Amino acid sequence: MTHVSWSPPDASKAGATLETFILEGMFKVPGATGTFTSLLNQISLAAKLITGRVRRAGLADVLGWTGDTNVQGESVQKLDIIANETMINVLRRRGHCMGVASEENDEAILFPNARGGYLVVVAPLDGSSNIDVDVSIGTIFGILRCDQERPVSAESFLVPGSEYAAAGYVIYGTSTVLMLSTGQGVHGFTWDPGAGEFFLSHENIRCPTRGNIYSVNEGNTARWTPGVKRWASWVKEENKAEGRPYTHRYVGSLVADAHRTLLKGGIFAYPADTKSPGGKLRLLYEANPMALIFEAAGGLATTGRERVLDVVPSELHARVPLIIGSKHDVETFEQFVKDDV
Ligand code: AHG
Repeated sequence: MTHVSWSPPDASKAGATLETFILEGMFKVPGATGTFTSLLNQISLAAKLITGRVRRAGLADVLGWTGDTNVQGESVQKLDIIANETMINVLRRRGHCMGVASEENDEAILFPNARGGYLVVVAPLDGSSNIDVDVSIGTIFGILRCDQERPVSAESFLVPGSEYAAAGYVIYGTSTVLMLSTGQGVHGFTWDPGAGEFFLSHENIRCPTRGNIYSVNEGNTARWTPGVKRWASWVKEENKAEGRPYTHRYVGSLVADAHRTLLKGGIFAYPADTKSPGGKLRLLYEANPMALIFEAAGGLATTGRERVLDVVPSELHARVPLIIGSKHDVETFEQFVKDDV
């Protein structure tokens, strides 16, 4: 007879919903007004609404293209629009969020009557090209503080990621998981469709110091700089003592590739190349939130030349090279590209 080793779940986690977790965090901050807590709860509400639509997408005639292109010049999917409108409409409520910079909107959306002192940056539905083939997609967000007494403008969003108050992402994968950091530590919450709640499932995640998986679009090889090419050859070399070759994984949804890298270690890289000399991924609502999460979990995030969180954005939809992952693996990448011009 096979001996099955099973013990009941840790009862101390019962009731540890995302909302409770956020409230408990608020109680630890003397003088907290509840505004930030309420804003986080609104974001989790948007995540619940979006996951509902994503899970039923094939049934509800929301797969496929709208026929439009967005500000990035990319074809817009119906679910892109649904996720964007859901996020904006939820954030508009309660008056905590004074403006939103979204991947799907050319201009920042401002809420002039709000007085909460917070701005949100968001990629409502990341990984659009994977929607119709049922591969993991996600939502990425960051929260910035702003002066509640002064009018908000597009410039209000142009601060380095090191000034973000919080960041997170939601992955619509085999489960829906919301990962959140307010700077200290990263915690994950898994969606329970029966209870209609996110429950704490990944407490205080630490990104392994090194890994054995590399994640990069190998189809771009011909466009890479000499340093990136040398690095990509190096990870594939046979060297048992150094744990090489690395295994290759690339989903093509940043949330999915980043989530795996955060949990298992290794490296995700979307470096600058001849097609995208400034990088492909967007600084405000893709690179910065991921950089904040990785640093809070003990990993690193670099452009290859500097810390992502130190980059001052030139515009709302600025792009940046993004390399995130285990500390050792990101530092190794930096060594390879340091002489690239
Ligand atoms: P989008 O949501 O606009 O489709 O962006 C997808 C992003 C990101 O999720 C992913 O890491 C990257 O683009 C993939 O790009 P390639 O197809 O060029 O590899």
